[in-house]
Amino acid sequence: MTTKRVTTKQIGVLLLTGLMLAACDSSTSTAETSAPAQQVVTSASAAKTTGTEVVMYKSPGCECCSKWADHLKGAGFTVIEHKRDDMDAIKAGHGVTKKLASCHTAIVDGYVIEGHVPAADVERLLNEHPANVVGLTAPGMPMKSPGMQTVGQQPKGYDVLAFNKDGTTTVFHRY
Ligand code: CU
Ligand code: CU
Repeated sequence: MTTKRVTTKQIGVLLLTGLMLAACDSSTSTAETSAPAQQVVTSASAAKTTGTEVVMYKSPGCECCSKWADHLKGAGFTVIEHKRDDMDAIKAGHGVTKKLASCHTAIVDGYVIEGHVPAADVERLLNEHPANVVGLTAPGMPMKSPGMQTVGQQPKGYDVLAFNKDGTTTVFHRY
């Protein structure tokens, strides 16, 4: 590391990068030693979504939104960020009611992804491709969700909901 360019922000980035690499390393070695078959499935589904474009709308000042975008990029997605001042209108236009709402609203393969939904759930949604589902949401701002907590930590203590074309919601993944 150079002494010249180290700012507090960069130290944070370096720490986050280190944690991400550490998390990557440990999950890889676990998969190799204990579940080689599962590893094949995981990489196949990841390969399917690698490079998949996610268009994300966020308020200009939202930092956790960009951290969620980083989480998706880490999983292989390509994220295009749009800073917008009319998030309420964007949410309304995509069927995200007040009850379902979080900070950012993203679109991937015609589905709406609202808030801090883990990348693994986005991958599962794209693989299963349910016809009756409008999108997934993690309503509010769950503290232990990707983008809200330290990089590499497991999501915990909240539900990812699927919201459907008939207006119903179902639990897609319980953390
Ligand atoms: Cu957020
Ligand atoms: Cu956000």
